[in-house]
Amino acid sequence: MSSTLLISCLFLAPYLCLGQWCYQSQYSCDDKCKEPRQWVLDFPVCGGQSQSPINIITRKVQYDPSLTPIMFEGYTDVMNITVNNVGYAAVFSLPPSVRISGGGLPDTYKAVQFHIHWGSNCGPGSEHTVDGEQYPMEVHIVHIKEKYNTLMEAMNDTVGVAALGFFFEISPRENKQLNKIIDALGRVRYNGNSTEIPGFQLVDFLISLENFSSYYRYAGSLTTPGCNEAIIWTLFQQSIPVSQEQLAVITQQMLFSTGMPMIDIFRPVLSLNSRIVYTSQACPCVLSGLITLLLGLLSVFELV
Ligand SMILES: *[C@@H]1O[C@H](CO)[C@@H](O)[C@H](O)[C@H]1NC(C)=O
Ligand SMILES: *[C@@H]1O[C@H](CO)[C@@H](O)[C@H](O)[C@H]1NC(C)=O
Ligand SMILES: *[C@@H]1O[C@H](CO)[C@@H](O)[C@H](O)[C@H]1NC(C)=O
Ligand SMILES: [Zn+2]
Repeated sequence: MSSTLLISCLFLAPYLCLGQWCYQSQYSCDDKCKEPRQWVLDFPVCGGQSQSPINIITRKVQYDPSLTPIMFEGYTDVMNITVNNVGYAAVFSLPPSVRISGGGLPDTYKAVQFHIHWGSNCGPGSEHTVDGEQYPMEVHIVHIKEKYNTLMEAMNDTVGVAALGFFFEISPRENKQLNKIIDALGRVRYNGNSTEIPGFQLVDFLISLENFSSYYRYAGSLTTPGCNEAIIWTLFQQSIPVSQEQLAVITQQMLFSTGMPMIDIFRPVLSLNSRIVYTSQACPCVLSGLITLLLGLLSVFELV
């Protein structure tokens, strides 16, 4: 076993050593890796009842007043971060000084990494969908409970990991703050490549932390094998802009470990089953429903 693979086994993805899994885009006659529907064969948890991603049906979400705005710590710090092509994604490592708390989370969580899911040819690429709509990209910022040292350790706890998901939406104007990330992806074309981004700020590509008080919350899993059901998911309603041109560059730069273009790197949605998706936002439709009801009552009594 090469030392790179060994390192990725120990620290990044121990599951890589157990079997060849891949995204649907990589499955072919030449490469009989296991595509998402077959992950369960090697990783039984991938067939569990609390899997991610899911489709969020907005008329079924439940308002939870405990979902106050998330406290972001270190998101405006200027840092030097490392990006690695791990063969199926680009992983941007983050220091533990980046933290989140509040927002109904049971603990303070420190950041480990972030990564991005995308499609191909400017097509859909997000993992979660909202009312069936798949966005062009979705970034996941992964945090673990402060008391844990590694993602592996945190996976053992059903609320050990807090992941933040941000959707991207096509904008006519480019999001200049994304260019640092896009350039870095170009420098990690091949599996095992890594590069530094000096002077990076998380808030850069999020534009502003002010806009993120409305979000969905549910209990789910990792979206790659082993699919551990250990994740508190937070998905923000506010999306981040990306231009068509930027999206095209992002999806064309990197290669899978097999040398094929790294495209369509998302797991298809799974059933919600008995879970409930909560929202931080008191539903405006409840209010309009009440007004309609009142008007209806008033008209019955011929008051209007
Ligand atoms: C980032 O790296 C530069 C050199 O490339 C160094 O001067 C600077 O101190 C580093 N910043 C941090 C926060 O580590
Ligand atoms: C996971 O939890 C079990 C039982 O509590 C424990 O024996 C095991 O060492 C833990 N594994 C990790 C990686 O922390
Ligand atoms: C990227 O990986 C390829 C293939 O392993 C290697 O030939 C190349 O030197 C690497 N580039 C950098 C900048 O590390
Ligand atoms: Zn992800």
